[in-house]
Amino acid sequence: MSFNPLNYPICFEKPQRLTDVTSWHEHIPFAFTIMQMLKPKIFIELGTHKGDSYCAFCQAVNVLGLDTACYAVDTWEGDEHSGFYGSEILEELKTYHDSRYMGFSQLIQSLFEEALDYFSDGSIDLIHIDGCHTYNAVKHDFEAWLPKMSQYGVVLFHDINVHEREFGVWKFWEEVAEYYPCFEFKHGYGLGVLAVGAEVPEEVLAFLNMEEQEVVTTTKLYSYLGDKIALGHQLQVGDIQITEINSAMQARDTKINEINSAMQTRDTNITELNSTLQARDTKINEINSAMQTRDTNITELNSTLQARDAQITDINSKLQARDGQIKDLETTIHQNKISIQEKQAQVAQLLSSKSWRWTYLLRLIHSSFFSLKSLRLTAPLKWIHSKILQSKIWRFVVILSKKSPREIWALSNMYLRLYGIRGALVQITKDIDTQQRFDRKTDVQEIANLQMKNVEDEDDWQVYQTQSQKIAEAKKREYNKISPKSTQNNLS
Ligand SMILES: C[S@@+](CC[C@H](N)C(=O)[O-])C[C@H]1O[C@@H](n2cnc3c(N)ncnc32)[C@H](O)[C@@H]1O
Repeated sequence: MSFNPLNYPICFEKPQRLTDVTSWHEHIPFAFTIMQMLKPKIFIELGTHKGDSYCAFCQAVNVLGLDTACYAVDTWEGDEHSGFYGSEILEELKTYHDSRYMGFSQLIQSLFEEALDYFSDGSIDLIHIDGCHTYNAVKHDFEAWLPKMSQYGVVLFHDINVHEREFGVWKFWEEVAEYYPCFEFKHGYGLGVLAVGAEVPEEVLAFLNMEEQEVVTTTKLYSYLGDKIALGHQLQVGDIQITEINSAMQARDTKINEINSAMQTRDTNITELNSTLQARDTKINEINSAMQTRDTNITELNSTLQARDAQITDINSKLQARDGQIKDLETTIHQNKISIQEKQAQVAQLLSSKSWRWTYLLRLIHSSFFSLKSLRLTAPLKWIHSKILQSKIWRFVVILSKKSPREIWALSNMYLRLYGIRGALVQITKDIDTQQRFDRKTDVQEIANLQMKNVEDEDDWQVYQTQSQKIAEAKKREYNKISPKSTQNNLS
C-alpha cells in the first residue's frame, strides 16, 4: 500500500481556529491527515497555548466523526521559548473550545508530569509534544510519556527544524529518528512524525515508508497546503487590520470632520473677533483723532491764554504807569493847592500891605484915566498909564487874576466905573478866588476823569497825554503873555 494524499481530503479542510500564535499553522493540513490515517482512540497534546494545533486535531475529530478522546495539557502560564502570559489566554480558549469540543475533549491545566497519572500506560495512540523546546525538556517529555503510548502509537514533535535560542528538538529528533520509523517536514519550523507503536496502522506505515520521489511530492504538497493556510491567515489578519484601519480611519475622518467643523466655528469666531477688533480700531482711531483735535484746541487755547496773559501783563504795566501818572498829577494838584494857598496869602498880604494902600492914588489916577481921556489930557495920562502897566504891582495883580492883560484892563475899567476903586479891588479879588476855584476844580475833574477812564489802548492814553500837554502848554503860554519872567518859574 502506498500513500496517496487524495485519500485524505480532510487535508484541504479550512482550519476554524487561527490565532496570532502562527508557528503551527503550516502543519494543520497534516494534523487533519494523521487523524484520518490513525483514527486514534486517545489523543494528547503537551503544550497547547492558544490552541491553534489542538483545535485543528479536535476539528478533524468533528469533521471525520472519530471516536477520539482528546486532552490538552498545559500550565497556561508559558515558558522561556513561547513567553509567559496570563490567565486570559486559557479563559479565551475555554470559551472557544467548550462550545465546540467539550463532548470529547478536555483542557487539563497542569504540568506535563502531573498529568501522567491521569493516563494508563499503553493507552495513547497519538501524542503531540510541543512544550519547552530545549533538548532536555523534549527528551524528558518523550521518555516520560513513551510508556503511555499504545501499540499504534505515533509521536509528533514540533520545531525539529529550529536551530537557535537553545532549541534542542532537532537534536533529540536526530537521536530518536535512528530507532523508529519516521517522517519529517522541514517547513513550519519542522514537524517530526515518529511511529513508536509496534503495530501502527498500515496507512501510517505507507506514509512513513514512501519512496523518495513521493516524499518530495508529499512534502511539497503539505508545505503548499500549509503555506496556503498561513497566507490565508495573513490575509485574514490583513483584512482584519484593514477593517480596523478602516474603522480607525473612519473614526479619524469623523474626528477630522469634528475638528474641521470646530475649526470652522473657530474661524467664524475669529472672523467675528476680527470684525469686532476692526470696529474697536476704528473707534480708537476716532477717539485718537478727537483727542488730536482737542489737543489742537488746547494748544490754541493755551496760546490764546498766553496772549491774554501777555495782554494782562501789558495792561497791568500800563495801569502801573497810569497809577504813577495819577500820583504825579495828585502831587501836582497838591503842589498847585499849596501854590494857590500861598498866592491867596500873598494876595491877602498884598491887599493889607502898605504899598497897596499907598498905591491907592495910582489906582485912582488909573480909574480917572478914562474920564481924563474924554477931556483930551491923554498924553501925560498915557505916560502914567504906561508906568502903571509896567509896575510890578500891576503885573502881580494880573498874574493873580490869571486873566489876560486885555481882560484885566477891560474888567478893571469896568469895575472902576461901576464900583469905584475900592469896589473894583474887592471884585477883582473875588474874580481871582473864582478863577482859582475854577482852576482847582478843573484839575480835580481831570484827575477824576483820568482815574475813572478805562483806557482801552495806547492811543487813548497818548491822546489824553497830548491833550493834557496842550492844556498845560496853553496855560503856560497864557501866563507867559502876562508875566514871562514870573510864570516861567511856576509852570516850568
Ligand atoms: C510552544 S507552546 C505550544 C504551542 C501550541 N502547540 C500551538 O499550537 O501554538 C508551549 C506551551 O507549553 C507549555 N509548557 C511548557 N512546559 C510545560 C510543562 N512542563 N508543563 C505544562 N506546560 C508546559 C507552555 O505553558 C506553553 O503554553
